[in-house]
Amino acid sequence: MAAVAYEAFRRLVRERRTVRAYRDEPIDLAALERAIEDACWAPSPHHAQPWRFALVSSDAARRSLAEAMGDKWGEDLAGDELSPRLIAGQIKGSRVRLSRARALIVVCSSQRDMDQYPDARRRQAERDMAVQGVGAAIQNLLLSVHLQGLGACWMCAPLFCPDVVQRALGLPDDWEPQALITVGQAVEQPPVPARRPLDESMLIRA
Ligand SMILES: Cc1cc2nc3c(=O)[nH]c(=O)nc-3n(C[C@H](O)[C@H](O)[C@H](O)COP(=O)(O)O)c2cc1C
Repeated sequence: MAAVAYEAFRRLVRERRTVRAYRDEPIDLAALERAIEDACWAPSPHHAQPWRFALVSSDAARRSLAEAMGDKWGEDLAGDELSPRLIAGQIKGSRVRLSRARALIVVCSSQRDMDQYPDARRRQAERDMAVQGVGAAIQNLLLSVHLQGLGACWMCAPLFCPDVVQRALGLPDDWEPQALITVGQAVEQPPVPARRPLDESMLIRA
């Protein structure tokens, strides 16, 4: 029984793919609520469950978040002295991508229930722990979405404009945007990016 379950697990983690292009078809939001519930079963530091999720489903809400984030990205790119044409192309691509996804899940961390320390070193360790917990939750979420027949992409964009995301969605003050997950029906099965050989990622010290 356990061997069968393990084989299924090995298949699952290899089958899940980052899906960036979605069909123009509605999706079942109940599946996303289940995926968020599954995400919450991840391990977390102090069992503080430092993850928070904002499910953004309507066209209008997705578009206005994409607009706000695109404006900020445009400012950053202008500071990099890229050509206005290149900037416009990149921003348009990002807005299209967020608008074409059928739903967005903004994943945040919260320090609310984490330990508090007077010094910067231990405060940083608590912040890192919360973010690691959020990462574990996101992996659960991605696997759940995949098993429910949907495709998703983990995007880092909110890290570059957390204030903008917070304002656009009216998030509580302690919610710190960490990632954005786009979700929809996959247009096609994406290619499998090869994995680095294990001996480059692992050392054994016997
Ligand atoms: C922290 C993190 C940030 C990521 N940010 C982005 C992103 O901004 N845009 C994107 O298209 N993919 C993003 N990805 C997805 C990776 O590009 C993807 O996982 C990787 O290429 C391997 O492909 P796979 O997920 O299909 O195995 C991100 C993944 C992680 C874990």
